[in-house]
Amino acid sequence: MKVLFKNDYNEVSKAAAEIFIKQIHDKPDSVLCLATGSTPLGLYSELIAANKQGTVDFSDVTTFNLDEYVGLDPKHEQSYKYFMEDNLFNHINIKKDHYNVPSGIESDYDAYCKKYEDKIESAGGIDLLLIGVGENGHIAFNEPDKSLSAVTHVVDLTEDTIQVNSRFFASADEVPKKAVTMGMGSILKAKKIVLIITGDKKAHVLERLMNDKSISTEFPVSFVLTHRDVTIIADAAACKNMHK
Ligand code: GLP
Repeated sequence: MKVLFKNDYNEVSKAAAEIFIKQIHDKPDSVLCLATGSTPLGLYSELIAANKQGTVDFSDVTTFNLDEYVGLDPKHEQSYKYFMEDNLFNHINIKKDHYNVPSGIESDYDAYCKKYEDKIESAGGIDLLLIGVGENGHIAFNEPDKSLSAVTHVVDLTEDTIQVNSRFFASADEVPKKAVTMGMGSILKAKKIVLIITGDKKAHVLERLMNDKSISTEFPVSFVLTHRDVTIIADAAACKNMHK
């Protein structure tokens, strides 16, 4: 595991962008897995700027997203599909049929989740996967629990996550109660993983991850400790407990 300590969010975003740009230079038809949340916004701005300057080309890149709220139409401003188009896809030269965000409006999720997994496999598997982390240690929408699902599945969001994510909605009541998410196995099968942890609200997460080397389904992000090729990029605020 590699850990890059950076001074601030801006430096974190630049360091993450370098990794993504190198990946696409090395393999122009890379399969990427992308995340939502506020954490990757700086990285996406860097990628948009690099694409506009002609230093990275997305025309052969395929992407899959980690998760989506169940019940939100893709045109809903808080849907992750909308988020990805608004913050990245509409501003880079990726082909419209090359990006995949799980659908939040399926009637048969068993069949749909299997199809999503199969599509990732047919694309050749994920070369580079980006994750952020929730304040309760969730990754994608794999919430702390007694057991975790290996594959793409529908989950009930925890009250903690609903409260934290309510900042994007008019009220907590409007936050969907369920989500569809790639599972721990689908995430860990990626060839490389970049985990970004920023801000003092995540300091306890980074501290636990770095100091307590145990793996627990009650702390889903701990599973990255089992992966061969993980780069964690953290800012000074997230590192504030590291020297205690
Ligand atoms: C959401 C997403 C996660 C994300 C997390 C943290 O719940 N499902 O993929 O990592 O929130 O979000 P933020 O980056 O805004 O702290």
